[in-house]
Amino acid sequence: MNLNHRENVPGGIGQSESRLAHIAFIMDGNGRWAQKRGMPREYGHVQGAKTMFDIATLVFKRQIPCMTIYAFSTENWSRPQKEIEALTSLLHEYIKKARRIMEEDNVRFRFIGDYSRFGDKVAAMIEDLVRDSAGNRWMLNTALNYGGRDEIVRAANKALAEGKTMLTEEDISRHLDTAPCPPLDLIVRTAGEMRLSNFLLWQAAYAEFYATPALWPDFDEAELEKAIAAFSQRKRRFGGLVNK
Ligand code: FPP
Repeated sequence: MNLNHRENVPGGIGQSESRLAHIAFIMDGNGRWAQKRGMPREYGHVQGAKTMFDIATLVFKRQIPCMTIYAFSTENWSRPQKEIEALTSLLHEYIKKARRIMEEDNVRFRFIGDYSRFGDKVAAMIEDLVRDSAGNRWMLNTALNYGGRDEIVRAANKALAEGKTMLTEEDISRHLDTAPCPPLDLIVRTAGEMRLSNFLLWQAAYAEFYATPALWPDFDEAELEKAIAAFSQRKRRFGGLVNK
């Protein structure tokens, strides 16, 4: 699908959706989805990656300019070695596919978190992809070896390295990994959990949270519609009294 043009997008945004500028996904339930089918957990991650690209296409088709996904947390290193190896190998495939999507769908790929832990080869592939897609329109952030607390500490240290001694919220905000993105509007979590799990802690301060029992590989266009519809019904007051 060609996402290079804004106008006449089928299923495009209505007035209420137009305020949704940044959507994030905690893609939970891959392992359960596979196990329900008598398959190894790794198979769930393969399906989960396919779902992720399908959902990104739908998100950008709706003119939502920025999407962030939680692909690998700082805590995921405690998983069995076999699963970590499968996720690392999937990451290679993911980056190769991302290069196609970058060209076909005008997507700008960015990575948040400390991805250097995946090794020099992966880091080089990531940096090539980020550089080559930098001028593209739709922003897709992939969180890799990411933790929200870690991001805040790194942001604070960057501000301190500039010579600051007292930090403001603005100092932290502009050094976050997501700094070039619009403010976060909506976090979607699949598989029924109701936690942030160390994801986008700073950015989540005024974001809306939406949970669905659907397992991530089953998350489809109808599920996305439901999440966006729920978001449209929310009254966002950002701590004040005035409705949106
Ligand atoms: C959580 O499900 C999912 C993950 C830890 C990985 C998410 C990754 C993808 C969707 C694929 C893209 C991957 C890369 C590396 C780019 P879970 O395994 O915790 O599921 P469970 O709760 O059912 O066990």
